[in-house]
Amino acid sequence: MIHLKTDEEIELLRENNLLVSETLAEVGRHIRPGVTTKRLDEIAEDFIRAHGAVPAFLGYQGYPASLCISVNEQVVHGIPSAKVVLKEGDMVSIDCGTFMKGFVGDSAYTFEVGEVGEEVRRLMQVTKEALYKGTAQAKAGNRVGDISAAVQEYTESFGYGVVRELEGHGLGRKMHEAPGVPNYGAKGRGPLLKEGMVICIEPMITMGSKSVVFEEDGWTVRTRDRKPAAHYEFAVAIRKNGPDVLTDFGIIEQAIKH
Ligand code: MF3
Ligand code: CO
Repeated sequence: MIHLKTDEEIELLRENNLLVSETLAEVGRHIRPGVTTKRLDEIAEDFIRAHGAVPAFLGYQGYPASLCISVNEQVVHGIPSAKVVLKEGDMVSIDCGTFMKGFVGDSAYTFEVGEVGEEVRRLMQVTKEALYKGTAQAKAGNRVGDISAAVQEYTESFGYGVVRELEGHGLGRKMHEAPGVPNYGAKGRGPLLKEGMVICIEPMITMGSKSVVFEEDGWTVRTRDRKPAAHYEFAVAIRKNGPDVLTDFGIIEQAIKH
């Protein structure tokens, strides 16, 4: 069942997703060669709690941390660890969730550690642009498939792979609500988008084959060919005047500008 949100509920979702954006900005300020992903997770947890929220991922289906931190060939759901030390040229996808005032925030951003190579930078850029292409289709009267097709067409025009095994989702009092929002599909198909729906769009895009494997830790998803993958995620409300993005990448990009 798809829960439609009132304007007031959308503002609570915006508060959560702004806190997620601010948390990602704070984490982004600490990303540098030598930092462990465990340290970044602690920074995020402290920041979220200091702002009166709780980390939405911690304990979710037994997940052991506040962030998912996925390095290079890891696509999503990498578990922060004191053994994972970031190094110059790594790419790191960080997914963050908050819970406060009865609602959830959920957004992700892919960062450079120092400077990545030209090929990886392009993958990051195209993945973010694919998210924007999908977001532009998030309007009442369209269908989920319009978002999916926009993400897929744009991504594949660069020869990149769209991961099939995971998808975006509705967002509200629960982190994962209906409808599912795949990153591939056909225009005009799938559930109808209506005013008051809030969804997360989250392309997971690979430089090589789209095929992924699930690691033994029960969480980490990585590319089968071990080529890099990027992941960006927005929460978007469908409003009378079109898509209303509840996440603010501007805060993150301001924080990491050098
Ligand atoms: N942000 C992820 C998603 O969009 C959820 C993280 S899974 C968790 O589906 F277990 F880490 F919470
Ligand atoms: Co999500």
